[in-house]
Amino acid sequence: MGQFDLILLGPPGAGKGTQAGRIVADYGIPHISTGDILRAAVKNQTPMGLEARRFMDAGELVPDSVVIGIVKDRLQEADTDRGFLMDGFPRTIPQAEALDATLDSIDRNISRVLAILVDEQELIRRLTGRRICRDCQTPFHVAFNPPAREGVCDVCGGELYQRDDDSEATVRNRLLVYNQQTEPLIDYYDRQGVLVRVDGEKEPDAVYEDIREAVGRP
Ligand code: AP5
Repeated sequence: MGQFDLILLGPPGAGKGTQAGRIVADYGIPHISTGDILRAAVKNQTPMGLEARRFMDAGELVPDSVVIGIVKDRLQEADTDRGFLMDGFPRTIPQAEALDATLDSIDRNISRVLAILVDEQELIRRLTGRRICRDCQTPFHVAFNPPAREGVCDVCGGELYQRDDDSEATVRNRLLVYNQQTEPLIDYYDRQGVLVRVDGEKEPDAVYEDIREAVGRP
């Protein structure tokens, strides 16, 4: 089995978390979501969480130095030996350059960057209707992907909740921040020859088929 060093790129609500669940289950690689790590720090009121919270609640990016530190530490854990799936990182050019330098120093390369692309009105509909499991973080949608029992996670039975940053005003700011700071990464990775554009408006299973085809068999 080869090594899969993968990145999921795309605007808020594109379906990165939804596809990440499928990818890590099939490919046996860890899911490294900077958003999930930061939300856990906020919940546990760690010093990093207290610093990150004001940025997250406003839909702004947490400073590069904080996020780069998180990812560097995480990449030292043994479960990344066979690969990893980055979700929500990198989000700025300095983050991408820091990741390149870290991987270079351990003689590894990014295998694929999957840019999941979705129209902005659809993103707003998806995010304002999203509900997430408090325990396993699986995302659902009140209309597009409802759980079998209202308010209860299909995967683990946990309670579903709405994220603080999924109000319409904050979603609009997150989209603005994405367009200004993260979208340039599409060109950055295109130039490296590792980018694949994925149509994120199809059904989740069809999106996953396209991803599998782009990445290769596990
Ligand atoms: P983060 O947690 O990374 O959030 P995000 O990038 O804004 O992405 P989302 O989790 O909102 O969306 P998603 O693409 O995962 O969509 P999902 O699968 O849930 O970041 C949050 C914050 O943390 C940032 O704003 C920032 O402050 C901070 N942060 C994180 N990383 C950082 C970094 N590297 N640097 C600096 N700051 C950082 O799907 C959305 C909804 O659509 C769901 O309801 C789902 O059921 C539904 N859906 C999914 N796919 C489909 C489909 N194909 N058809 C119909 N509905 C679908």
